[in-house]
Amino acid sequence: MNKLIDKYGRQITYLRLAVTDRCNLRCKYCMPAEGIKIVPRKELLSYKEIYRITRALTELGVNKIRLTGGEPFVRKDFMQLLEMLSYNDLLKKINITTNGALVKHNIPKLEELNINTINLSIDSLKPERFFEITRRNNFHDVFDTLNLLEKSKINLKLNIVVQPGVNTDEIGDFVALSQERNLSVRFIEEMPFNGTGQRTIDEVWNYNRILEEIRKSHPEFEILDHEKSSTSKNFKLPDSTGNFGIIPAYTRTICHDCNRVRITATGMIKNCLFDDGVFNLKEVLNKDISNEDLKDLFLEIIPQKPKNGFVAEENRRKNPNVSESMSTIGG
Ligand code: 5AD
Ligand code: SF4
Repeated sequence: MNKLIDKYGRQITYLRLAVTDRCNLRCKYCMPAEGIKIVPRKELLSYKEIYRITRALTELGVNKIRLTGGEPFVRKDFMQLLEMLSYNDLLKKINITTNGALVKHNIPKLEELNINTINLSIDSLKPERFFEITRRNNFHDVFDTLNLLEKSKINLKLNIVVQPGVNTDEIGDFVALSQERNLSVRFIEEMPFNGTGQRTIDEVWNYNRILEEIRKSHPEFEILDHEKSSTSKNFKLPDSTGNFGIIPAYTRTICHDCNRVRITATGMIKNCLFDDGVFNLKEVLNKDISNEDLKDLFLEIIPQKPKNGFVAEENRRKNPNVSESMSTIGG
């Protein structure tokens, strides 16, 4: 089988695909209050196109997909897309990143479809603060989703974007939550993708600083074995049910064994979170490209993955005025 191996020897086995750029929340680190400019619906990949892309990639060795957005559950009939993807026998894991506001009623069906892991974004355990961050009143829906997912057979991870001056005082509380509850807490370094083009973050809360903060409230913890290509470094408290970890999203110390390719909601291939998008699939799909040609295209483009996120960012500086939001990039 032809595989997607880049010139640094990294094999791409994990697709992150955004099903929409729309979102029902307005997290401050992701977009301005009025939202971002969304694309017309007809420019989004159709479910059939998503199925075709995924099938071709799985025939090239991809075995895991993460569906992201925007918020995936705001797209009409998203559960049907999951069902379609579940027919692909080469896909060993289907994961979803969601803000959880529209999820609680779908959990039995998600279990039935064998969804492996759900990453739930929840940046605060305090309802008022949750409102401040997301500018929406959905804390209780999200917390219900958290409770139900914890009891389900789906693995649960919590995504916490560490925001200076906003929620750093809750780091210890989230670590404590991993002691009692069957879930994995993941602290994410904030990145300057907030949809406004402003790219500075005043105070640096990087991996080391987050770990230092954890030591203050919980001096004793064990380091867990590093899983290859994992985005996080993981730890657990003694005798705990869950675990916690840190994702060095911005300091980018994990690029050397990256196994990921991204596809945006409009069909743009991104070889790196920090690149500009390298090829638009929508155009070739509109021209009825054959499965073999689609695979050849992937074999040509994906192995051009930049060495790391700094190289990717450098290349994109040649293209100014980028004001991306994670909701367009796909988390
Ligand atoms: N920095 C870090 N993480 C972000 N996310 C969205 N925007 C940013 C940003 N600027 C996170 C969301 C979600 C995941 C998809 O990406 O909180 O958990
Ligand atoms: Fe929506 Fe996620 Fe962006 Fe928040 S971070 S506005 S939940 S896409």
